[in-house]
Amino acid sequence: MTGNETGASSPFQQLIRVGIALTSTQDLSALLTLILSEARRMVDADAGTLYVREGAMLRAVAAQCRTLTERLGDGKAETLFDSLAVPVSPNSVCGSAALTKEVVNIPDLHAIEGARLAACSAAFDREHGYTTRAVLAVPMIDPEDEVIGVLQLINKRGPLQQAGFGELDVRISLALASQAAVAIRNARLTAQLRRAHRDALLGLSIAAEWRDRATAKHITRVTEYAGILGLAMGLPDGELDLLVQASPMHDVGKLGIPDAILHKPGKLDEQERRIMETHTLIGANILNSGASAVMRMARQIALYHHEKWDGSGYPKGLRGTAIPLCARIVALADVYDALSTRRCYKEAFAPEKVLEIVRQGAGAHFQPELVDALLAQLGRIYEIRDQFGDTQAELDAFRDYANIELKEPDEDQY
Ligand SMILES: [Fe+2]
Ligand SMILES: [Fe+2]
Repeated sequence: MTGNETGASSPFQQLIRVGIALTSTQDLSALLTLILSEARRMVDADAGTLYVREGAMLRAVAAQCRTLTERLGDGKAETLFDSLAVPVSPNSVCGSAALTKEVVNIPDLHAIEGARLAACSAAFDREHGYTTRAVLAVPMIDPEDEVIGVLQLINKRGPLQQAGFGELDVRISLALASQAAVAIRNARLTAQLRRAHRDALLGLSIAAEWRDRATAKHITRVTEYAGILGLAMGLPDGELDLLVQASPMHDVGKLGIPDAILHKPGKLDEQERRIMETHTLIGANILNSGASAVMRMARQIALYHHEKWDGSGYPKGLRGTAIPLCARIVALADVYDALSTRRCYKEAFAPEKVLEIVRQGAGAHFQPELVDALLAQLGRIYEIRDQFGDTQAELDAFRDYANIELKEPDEDQY
């Protein structure tokens, strides 16, 4: 093997490799960290900060510093930059790069001492015993020609450190910054789409709960309990995320059940009970788009959340592990919540009574390991119950049509 084959590659090859990594990373914060670490590595910079533009401000979203990390230890150095924000203005290196859409490359900040550009680094340097010398700030410009952030690299390392960042460093940083701009924009669009998808599904779930005279907090509690149980059962992160997104939809099929049955005060007769049980099939039919993993899991949960471990449930009478795990989890979370909370038509059972029923259900209604997991996590479960409890006022207000309160829309964070 020659020296070249051991890992050294041209900047061009490295840029291609980094570009592939950037486009395959969907998680925005992982992406920002990756952009910064790759940029630092490729131009051999001691430190760097990645700013994202929010209106007239640039907010630091990733920061790395080799010297301070060596001095303070892993994780500490990054926190120094947590609250770092600079206005888009000619008064700082990064602000100026964002304002003019031009690269700012200063080989030695001290050579221009007294100038306004050096002022913001000087305060940081004094406080943390660091010396900012060379600074390279590259605007990240998306395909619509909007500045979405600034990549700032600090202090060239190695034999060329006195000269600061060179022409090749600038070109590499520019290439990375434009790739980063596209990747950030795509990650934001993906996050926005995910959120829109999640909100639409949540709205559907709340509509179904509303008809069932339960508040949206029932959905929140069941989802939180399902998350706790899923984690305890060792579900990998991706599956856990799906479970949390899909759980709220377990009773969507109740949209199709007539009011006379859904709201009947007494016991259902045989025929009514059979109609009520079809909410599992109706739910599965509502959620039958297999286009996403969330929908596929939501369908399974809607269809199987009334199956029982011993095979005596409905609609299929599945037994044991033939019931999908997500549905086994929601079955316990849903029953636990129904028992332990008030509804506008019933009181809650006492906590000891709830636990007795759940314990008795182990091996019959519920998978025994899930009951163990719930009992082992009771502290957390009670926290959720109390945090998302329905107040008497909320229950009283339920379907008080003369006083429906108009809520403000949630702030969109993207
Ligand atoms: Fe149900
Ligand atoms: Fe439910």
